[in-house]
Amino acid sequence: MPTFRTSPGMRDVLAPDSARFRHFTTVFADVVEAAGYGQVIPPLLEDVGVFARIGDATDVVAKEMYDFVDKGERHVALRPEQTASVCRAFVQHRPAVPWKAWYSGPNFRYEKPQRGRYRQFDQVGIEVLGVDDPYLDAEVITLGWEFFDRLGLRGVTLVLNSLGEPADRGRYVEALRQHFEAHADELSDVSRETLARNPLRVLDSKRAQDAPAIAAAPRIGEFWSVAAAAHFATVQRALDAAGVPYTLDPLLVRGLDYYRRTTFEFQAASLESAQNAVGGGGRYDGLVEDLGGPPTPGIGFALGVDRTLIACDDEGAFPPPPVAVDAFVVDTAGGADAHAITTELRRAGLRVDRAFEGRSMKSQMKSADRSGARLAVIVGTDEATAGTAVVRPLRSDAAQTTVARAELLSTVQEALS
Ligand code: HAM
Repeated sequence: MPTFRTSPGMRDVLAPDSARFRHFTTVFADVVEAAGYGQVIPPLLEDVGVFARIGDATDVVAKEMYDFVDKGERHVALRPEQTASVCRAFVQHRPAVPWKAWYSGPNFRYEKPQRGRYRQFDQVGIEVLGVDDPYLDAEVITLGWEFFDRLGLRGVTLVLNSLGEPADRGRYVEALRQHFEAHADELSDVSRETLARNPLRVLDSKRAQDAPAIAAAPRIGEFWSVAAAAHFATVQRALDAAGVPYTLDPLLVRGLDYYRRTTFEFQAASLESAQNAVGGGGRYDGLVEDLGGPPTPGIGFALGVDRTLIACDDEGAFPPPPVAVDAFVVDTAGGADAHAITTELRRAGLRVDRAFEGRSMKSQMKSADRSGARLAVIVGTDEATAGTAVVRPLRSDAAQTTVARAELLSTVQEALS
């Protein structure tokens, strides 16, 4: 056993999976930058107050925050998500609206680790501030949908709901409280405790014992104002017109308290139901104001990178990109030639590797083969003396050639083209 291992819920991502993480972000950036979103890179650490706005009654804030007092006596926290940070940045820098931002990077939540649930996990996401238009809701949701399509992940369902205006939501929460209090003895202990903090969260319970009381609970649609219902109807019509399929789920309330009106989740069929959300989002029109800014509508989503990659593995979608080098330099003449040649070829933009420690020809050729290189460039004592090198194709039957060092680069480039 090594002395140190990663902490629970934390993971090392090694190659080639790390290349897949990077490629994931590249594909996401392509999709959203083509729609006018610019990257924002918020810090990992913020004043804890920024995240308090996610909701005192949420697990994310009440139980899972990595917060501490720093050496300057500031109460800070590692971000559990990035929406609050993006809104804090908006208030601080006041960019022109609509502000269309995208981000990627790690977040921290002290959760119970399991497959698809980690204490450090990566997200990519978008946020748009300053626009109160149901067609923006449709744009944001559609971009998420199109991204999964670009990845090649097929078993994704888009689930939609509206939590109504804040007043609708308030009346709904009160009705839920009364309903669940009347059925308190049927609820699980955990849900009874949740009820005391936030009746809406009881709807998230996947426990069989809670199912009958949840099934009989009032539905949010009965509480929508005329305006909230009209907004939601337009979102659905826009998705219909763009051919984005969805299902409506009145029980989709999401785990964060800032949501109002449109909420949605992308769920992967291959994952267990407690961890099947590969992404989620919604409107949070009051959050900027809560953080000290002017009243500003906002909407966005975040997608879980780790969890989406698990869903891709389950489906055989989005394989790691190939990481092979172009050429491998084998040097049995001491090693200095390999240094000069790798440097020359790399300066010309080629992907080149070599072996070290003066290993035998046989062992270096083995490494060349393992590297996936298409060519070996070989320098033995004879070649070193003559100022030549051998270019040997590794993946075809083509003959090897011996070339003067001055012609090596052009020969290698030609052989690779
Ligand atoms: P969230 O639903 O908490 O929303 O997280 C979004 C996604 O991040 C989840 O659907 C899941 O894929 C992934 N995720 C969350 N927690 C974990 C975890 N412990 N381990 C692995 N993956 C995880 C938000 O974070 C909001 N900020 C989304 C948003 C943006 N709403 C509006 N704008």
